Amino acid sequence: MAGDPHPLAQRIEALARTQHPRVVGWRRTMHRQPELSFQERETVRFLLAELAQVDCLEIERPTDTSIVARLRGGRPGPTLAIRADIDALPIQDGKHCDYRSQVPGVMHACGHDGHAAMLLGSVHLLSALRNELPGEVRFFFQHAEEQHPGGAAEMVEAGVMNGVDRIIAAHVISTQDTGGIVVRDGPAFASSDRFVLRVLGKGGHAANPDRCIDPVFVGAQIVANLQAIVARNTDAHDALIISVTRFHAGEAFNVIPDGAELGGSVRCFSDAVRRRAPELIRRIADGVAGAHGARCELDYVLGYAPVVNDAGVAGALRHMIERDMPALQVREMNPMPNSEDFGAFLQHAPGAYALIGARSAAKGICHPHHHPMFDFDEDALLHGVQLFSNAPFTLNGA
Ligand code: NI
Repeated sequence: MAGDPHPLAQRIEALARTQHPRVVGWRRTMHRQPELSFQERETVRFLLAELAQVDCLEIERPTDTSIVARLRGGRPGPTLAIRADIDALPIQDGKHCDYRSQVPGVMHACGHDGHAAMLLGSVHLLSALRNELPGEVRFFFQHAEEQHPGGAAEMVEAGVMNGVDRIIAAHVISTQDTGGIVVRDGPAFASSDRFVLRVLGKGGHAANPDRCIDPVFVGAQIVANLQAIVARNTDAHDALIISVTRFHAGEAFNVIPDGAELGGSVRCFSDAVRRRAPELIRRIADGVAGAHGARCELDYVLGYAPVVNDAGVAGALRHMIERDMPALQVREMNPMPNSEDFGAFLQHAPGAYALIGARSAAKGICHPHHHPMFDFDEDALLHGVQLFSNAPFTLNGA
């Protein structure tokens, strides 16, 4: 039962529709001038100029290339943060349209230009409804989602989450048609950590393996045995991915090398599994190496935390969408093994991450994210603006 729509929902939709061509224009401006992670200076300059036209905003610059805009509503209530990422990727734009990237080798191939445009749209819209707005809305224009250690952690470090009660974000998604929207309970994106494992053996002539400790042989056993962590040490309900993606050893055909270096990626959907993984990898690697007389050294680098939606926030958003945005359909989707640095914010406040359908076969928009032909259906911008603009009225408890 969706119930009666919020009294402001129709007004928000009308304002969003009127404003839509401007939002599309902002998106295309940013699409033409993409910037890599930690280098988003022109994007920030553009956003600051647009934000300067909005009344009653307080602008903060937590880092060089990020912005926080605060809007205090006319009614009391808690604080909701809404985050959009703004960075692009080192990919050559392969599209042929008037808004294609003007920067060689750099492209908004993940849709972050759209996220920034949606958020800017909701800044405008919510400032027009400021008297009715409960509590505070903090708009996070976040740099460097695409590159470790990620902009989210830097913004948290700068204190942007102080006093935030809840946080939401959204991503356009190329695997769902426009009009669909996904807000899961629990995991949405996997964590992403990486490791380097050095196997230390003893080199020698390829003709005399008995006088060597062959790190290639030992490394190969380690690669195979690491999958036992997934298959035999992890609860079947807890997904864990360990992918060895690098294996470097030796130069010559007739020399057994002294050492080998392996590297790879570890992904999972819970903090508990994530905490256990390094020790399990170390145990397998040490055990296998020891069995063959070799040693190993492990460097384990923590990357992005899993994005785990709070069921209360996610449920409230789904209910709000069904009630206030009846043109959208709430869809189911499995959590994604990709990673997202939004988890850094979720360590400090409950929140939820929505996926906004943006595929349109009719418009020929169906390439995956990070593809040179990636584009998204700009109708999805309307849904993003509506989601971000309705959310404070529901989540801030009016
Ligand atoms: Ni992305």
